[in-house]
Amino acid sequence: MTDKKKYKRNQKDSNDDMINLVDNLNRDDDVKYNRRAFLKSAVGASVALGLATLPFSVKAMLESDEEEEAFKIVSLDKVPKGSSYNFAYPTEADTALLIHTEEGEIKAYNNKCTHLQCPVFYEKEENVLLCPCHKGYFSVENGHPTAGPPQRELPLIKTEIRNGVVYAVGRKVRHG
Ligand code: FES
Repeated sequence: MTDKKKYKRNQKDSNDDMINLVDNLNRDDDVKYNRRAFLKSAVGASVALGLATLPFSVKAMLESDEEEEAFKIVSLDKVPKGSSYNFAYPTEADTALLIHTEEGEIKAYNNKCTHLQCPVFYEKEENVLLCPCHKGYFSVENGHPTAGPPQRELPLIKTEIRNGVVYAVGRKVRHG
């Protein structure tokens, strides 16, 4: 083999080595960058997931679902359809209203208006709960404000009827 040929062959070999070395370096960089990209994506995904579920966490924190021992409110025959009955629950200070609708449904709410605490009454003719202080209206169906200044729903009292007697069995302070 001539010197020239030898030289060329050596040069080629050495170029290949350089390419391999650079290639290996690039591969190391690839691994490093891929790892970094993966970690960035994982952190990003965790943050996005956390933010997406935040409203549900806040809702769960704000909602309070209180289970209580059954408390006797009144015999159902003392509250005919289309009338209401005042009681207190869960303490004497928590005034409440039981409504027996014309359709035969039983609904119960604490009846301090969520605007400025005036008592709320059942308006049979319009089938609504009315706060006369500033004409605040609430739905009999779910206790949500429907007109006037109140912005929050009335606390819902969960009821059960056992042998013709209505019992309070818990309360939901914020409910959907
Ligand atoms: S206190 Fe009930 S509407 Fe103002």
